[in-house]
Amino acid sequence: MSLNSLEEIATYIVSEGKGILAADESNPTCGKRFDSIGVESTEANRRDYREMLFRASGMQDNIGGVILFDETIRQSSKDGTSLVDIIKDQGALPGIKVDKGLQPLNESSEEVVTQGLEGLNERCKEYVALGARFTKWRAVIRIGEGMPSDECIDANMKALADYAKVVQDNGMVPMVEPEVLMEGSHSIEDCFNASDRSLKSLFRHLNENGVNIKGTILKPSMVTSGSTAAEQASVDEVAKRTLECLIANVPAELPGITFLSGGQSDILATAHLDAMNKIGGFSWKLSFSYGRALQSPALKAWKGKYENMFISQDALSHRALMNKMAALGQWDSSLEDQ
Ligand code: 13P
Repeated sequence: MSLNSLEEIATYIVSEGKGILAADESNPTCGKRFDSIGVESTEANRRDYREMLFRASGMQDNIGGVILFDETIRQSSKDGTSLVDIIKDQGALPGIKVDKGLQPLNESSEEVVTQGLEGLNERCKEYVALGARFTKWRAVIRIGEGMPSDECIDANMKALADYAKVVQDNGMVPMVEPEVLMEGSHSIEDCFNASDRSLKSLFRHLNENGVNIKGTILKPSMVTSGSTAAEQASVDEVAKRTLECLIANVPAELPGITFLSGGQSDILATAHLDAMNKIGGFSWKLSFSYGRALQSPALKAWKGKYENMFISQDALSHRALMNKMAALGQWDSSLEDQ
C-alpha cells in the first residue's frame, strides 16, 4: 500500500466503512481480560490470542487499522511472520499506543493526567522503523463532584496536542483520544458538558501547536448517561447528543472520528454508531475504534484453547462486519442473527 501523506493514511483507515481494532491493552489490562476466561497472561498466550484475531477473515475489508501495544509490535507468530506483516496482509495499517499511562494531577486529586512526552520523539522513530503508520494517546476525564476541573482538562488536552505534533513530525497519524469515563451516576447532560469542554480545549491546543487536522483522527467517547445512573438515555438520545457535541466542536476537515466503546456492550456500541450514521449531516467519517466491543465475544469463545480458534475468529469477523455496516448506517439488529 503506497500511502505517503498523513492525509492519505488517515483517510485510508476510515475508508468505505472501515474502522479500527484496538488491541493495545497493556499487559496488566490484558491480564484482567484473560482472568475473565481463566487464561494465564503469558507473553506466548498474548501472542497466540492476538495472532488469532489478526488472522480472522473478517479483518479484510472491515478493519483499516490495528492499535498495538509495545510488546505486540515486536512479536512474530509461530511460523516466524511478524504480527505487523499479518496485519498488513489483511489490508490494515499497524498503529501503536505511545502514552505511558496515568498519574494523579496533583497530590490530593482524584483526577489524572496522561504521561509519556519524555522520550516520545525517539520512541516514534523506532515505531516507524517497526512499521507503525499511526499512534494513539488516551487522556482520561472523570465526572464527579467538582470534576472535571478546568485544570485537568487543560493539562490533558495540552499533552494530547504536544503528542500529536511530535507524532506528525515523525510521519505518523496521531489518534487523539479524550475519554470521558462512563463510570458514575451522572446524567447525559453532565457527560455532554464534560465532552464539550474537553473538545473545545483539545482543538484550541491542536491549532495552537500547528497540528495538521487533515492528518489526525479523533477517538472520543460517546455522550451517554453514567453507567450507574438510574435513568439511561435511549439509543436515539445518545446518537443525537453525541452528534450535537461533535458538530459544535470538530472541524469539518478532520477525516475521521472513531469512537471507543468504553464499557458499552458490543451490540449497544454498534447500535449507537449506526444511529448516528443514519442521522448523518456531517463531513467526517464516523466509525469505530473498539477494544472490548469488538473483542469480547471472540475472547469468550476462545477460552485459551486452540480448538476454539475458528469460532473465536468468526465472532471477531462478525463484530467487525456489524460495525462496518453501522459506520455506513446500514446496520439492523436482525443482521445479528444471521
Ligand atoms: P474500549 O473500546 O474497550 O473502550 O477500548 C478502546 C481503547 O482503545 C481505549 O483506550
